[in-house]
Amino acid sequence: MGLTALCPGTFDPVTNGHLDIIGRTSQRFDEVVVGVLENPSKQPLFSLDERVGLLGEALAELPEVRSNVKVTSFHGLLVDHARQQGADVIVKGLRAVSDYEYEIQMAQMNVRIGDVETLLMPTNPKWSFLSSSLVKEVARFGGDVAGLVPERVREALLERMAAAVGRGGAGGDGGRA
Ligand code: PNS
Repeated sequence: MGLTALCPGTFDPVTNGHLDIIGRTSQRFDEVVVGVLENPSKQPLFSLDERVGLLGEALAELPEVRSNVKVTSFHGLLVDHARQQGADVIVKGLRAVSDYEYEIQMAQMNVRIGDVETLLMPTNPKWSFLSSSLVKEVARFGGDVAGLVPERVREALLERMAAAVGRGGAGGDGGRA
């Protein structure tokens, strides 16, 4: 029987760093389930449907992403989603030592509450500085995010920022992911 990996996140929005982790996971596991968290306590810049849609479009364009990847959404506990999807392990990217403390805490909790193991995959150094929250901040203040996110995401960010300016604001903050 093949192994299924679950790559979870908020993906608000998906970055090239996320895509790198999903692509490398897809080459090493039989099936990959990407789990997009609907988190009612955060106010994301993009709706759940938009985040799922942007991820699907980006993955479809990547040659290194095999057809063994599907995008799902979930709310509640990650371990419950892992069980529902038949995932054997959670795979998450680790950008730097600063990520480690939080990731190890979540990994240990997920073993404790659901007996689900987490594999931490070092991010490609090319993307070690990259986060969705920084991308949003750069875009909000007019910086260029080309090459950091898929082109369609860049366009969506520009549209969202233009709409926010039209309303006299800078849009939601979307958390720190
Ligand atoms: O992209 P993010 O925001 O860093 O992803 C964090 C995510 C979605 C992996 C984490 O917030 C999560 O697993 N949330 C689901 C709720 C849950 O299971 N909490 C307990 C984790 S120990």
